[in-house]
Amino acid sequence: LFSLLAVMTVFLAACGEEHLSTLRPSGAVGKEQLNLLLLTTIIMTVVTIIVSVIYLLAFVKFRRSRVGENVIPKQVEGSHTLEVIWTVIPIILLIIISVPVLISTYKFADVAAMEEVDENGEKTALTVNVTAKLYWWEFEYPNQGIVTAQELVVPTDEKVYFNLIAADVKHSFWIPAVGGKMDTNVDNLNKFYLEFDKTSEGLKEGVFFGKCAELCGPSHALMDFKVKALDRPAFDAWVAAMKATEGQTASADSTDLGEATFANSCLGCHAISGVGVSGGMGPNLTTFGDRNRVAGFLEHTTEKTAAWINDPEYYKPGNLMTGKYNVSEEEAQAIAEYLMTLSVEK
Ligand code: CUA
Repeated sequence: LFSLLAVMTVFLAACGEEHLSTLRPSGAVGKEQLNLLLLTTIIMTVVTIIVSVIYLLAFVKFRRSRVGENVIPKQVEGSHTLEVIWTVIPIILLIIISVPVLISTYKFADVAAMEEVDENGEKTALTVNVTAKLYWWEFEYPNQGIVTAQELVVPTDEKVYFNLIAADVKHSFWIPAVGGKMDTNVDNLNKFYLEFDKTSEGLKEGVFFGKCAELCGPSHALMDFKVKALDRPAFDAWVAAMKATEGQTASADSTDLGEATFANSCLGCHAISGVGVSGGMGPNLTTFGDRNRVAGFLEHTTEKTAAWINDPEYYKPGNLMTGKYNVSEEEAQAIAEYLMTLSVEK
């Protein structure tokens, strides 16, 4: 038992990865979810210990070498006292667990504020439409009219409301340090809200890691995204910068090899304006130069970007970009350099 526990401790230690720990929560929702987790874990641990001790005592006390060969211990059939004890105690424990869980569940599902409007009839709550796709994430801000992909940008210290949907198969939206997991389904919308602190113990300021938490295909484990939590003025500046990209596109006539190749080979699926385009085949690349990762999980460098363009199937098996695009290695390098210039933050 102890060697098993020791091995489990090693596995638990791996959960401490930076930005990914439910045990170091950020924001009110994450903190409340951790409290529920601790409450149930403590109760389960106490029950497991008590039951194990009784079980072991019975083994020791009634073992054959102690009571003697061929001796049948006293047989007890039916005990009102025992039956009342093992019925009432679990009921009390389940009530202790279920009351706070139900209160929190209904609280996090309260999204009435999503429909509130100001005097101009415009919705006031910050809402993000999340669309999960094989194997990437699209984030649309309907009230701001902008769209981005792979990196969710949110303001800190206020409720951010989410509409969750999937474009192909079921996925699940989870930011371990902040909250979730909520399934993204193909035809029914799930809604909830989260709150983001700018910093959390041990985390890089304002950056959180998100995961797909529902097995969805060969690259499920690589379906990562990042979250950037900015204070309100910085978030408003980001929205304005995103809106300023309206009409931006790559020109096939450009003297820049990367831009011209991108216009010819990539623009059919990817957009590089954050305004007015969503539902594309591939992720919107408006903020590619600002990202923390390439394809959700690779190091954010020109080299990795070029390597990804050359062979997406190698990095993310089963993704829709798999295929050959008639792009030479030199052109892939030029596209990567061009993509790194796409930025609204610099
Ligand atoms: Cu998407 Cu797992």
